[in-house]
Amino acid sequence: MTRETSDELLRWRAEFPILERTTYLISNSLGAMPRGVYDAMKGYADTWATRGVRAWEERWWMLAAEVGNEIGALMHAPPGAVSTHQNVTTCQAVVASCFDFSGKRNKVVYSDMNFPSVMYFWEAQRAYGARVHMVRTEDGITVPTERLLDAIDETTQLVPVSHVIFRSSYIQDAKAIIEKAHRVGAHVVLDTFQSLGNVPVDVEALDVDFACGGVLKWLCGGPGVGYLYVRPDLGKRLEPKLTGWFAHQNSMAFEIGPIRYTDPPFRFMNGTSNIPALEAARPGLKIIAEVGVERIREKSKKQTARLIALADEHGWTVNSPRDPEQRGGTVSIDMPHAEEVCRELLQRDILVDWRPKAGVRMSPHFYNTDEELEVAMGAVGEAACSR
Ligand SMILES: Cc1ncc(COP(=O)(O)O)c(C=O)c1O
Repeated sequence: MTRETSDELLRWRAEFPILERTTYLISNSLGAMPRGVYDAMKGYADTWATRGVRAWEERWWMLAAEVGNEIGALMHAPPGAVSTHQNVTTCQAVVASCFDFSGKRNKVVYSDMNFPSVMYFWEAQRAYGARVHMVRTEDGITVPTERLLDAIDETTQLVPVSHVIFRSSYIQDAKAIIEKAHRVGAHVVLDTFQSLGNVPVDVEALDVDFACGGVLKWLCGGPGVGYLYVRPDLGKRLEPKLTGWFAHQNSMAFEIGPIRYTDPPFRFMNGTSNIPALEAARPGLKIIAEVGVERIREKSKKQTARLIALADEHGWTVNSPRDPEQRGGTVSIDMPHAEEVCRELLQRDILVDWRPKAGVRMSPHFYNTDEELEVAMGAVGEAACSR
């Protein structure tokens, strides 16, 4: 038996059309599209065409909650705890709108390794009284946990941090951050975009207050669906000011005046859901649930280790943790002319990306063969030598 055929997860390879012709190592950015999305989109169009406005009652209204539950099941969230939104930035805004930054507890602690959109959002909250404290990385790969923990104090309201850092794939010690935050009465918003679907996430074991992400990367769900988990006890009492008719106890009564909040998950939603995106997300979520994140993680650790070994053979800089327990699904590798090298790989139909301060990012997923890693790294070698 060859190494390739002994890999049980390759059974799902045929579900992803792009893998037939492309070396797809960019699931940290956009997961490959499952072929089931064609049927999902046809089903969406048929429903709209044949059922018209009745589609709301028959299928569309509850879709946001149903897809939320499918996402929630992957993170050990109970049914009803996950609402769906357009993206992570919106999820952060919904969370922010549940809190008051005009009093003494107005500090927001985060790190410069957060995804920039999240950073831009929180920096802008200074206008509403938020006192933003940014903890800076020392090595460009990790976040100094002790300094982050020290910054979380009795005046801290929120700690929006990434579970897995997008630039380096460093896995933060979420448990330690959450424990410290809870000791001083602060709340943690964990961005699980780069973990869920690749690195196990258990919101109950973590006792995290909020978790958010999107489905388009490791969950192979396409753009347009972000998710927000709210811990059930908080979900019952928080009142998001970024709200709308979907969050009303009786949306269809079109009551005048202030909102009367319904229960989660709709309590955290606002206006009309992104129905086509929710439909497109389902085939990927189903496959990830079938494959199982534990198995994905096991394979990912091996394949990312292989990428690091190949980078070491060439003497390139590895900007991701070497300890597999601290490393998510991506390996960032820097070499001379890395941006041009990336461009050349794209021309050869080897899909990776390049980011400043990271280098070429390679992200094998459960559907990638070991051979594809060798092919990609061989191409990097050739491209780097020809400069
Ligand atoms: C950790 C992380 N958070 C957030 C985002 C994106 O945020 P949004 O969904 O608001 O576009 C990304 C990447 O696209 C990311 O890697």
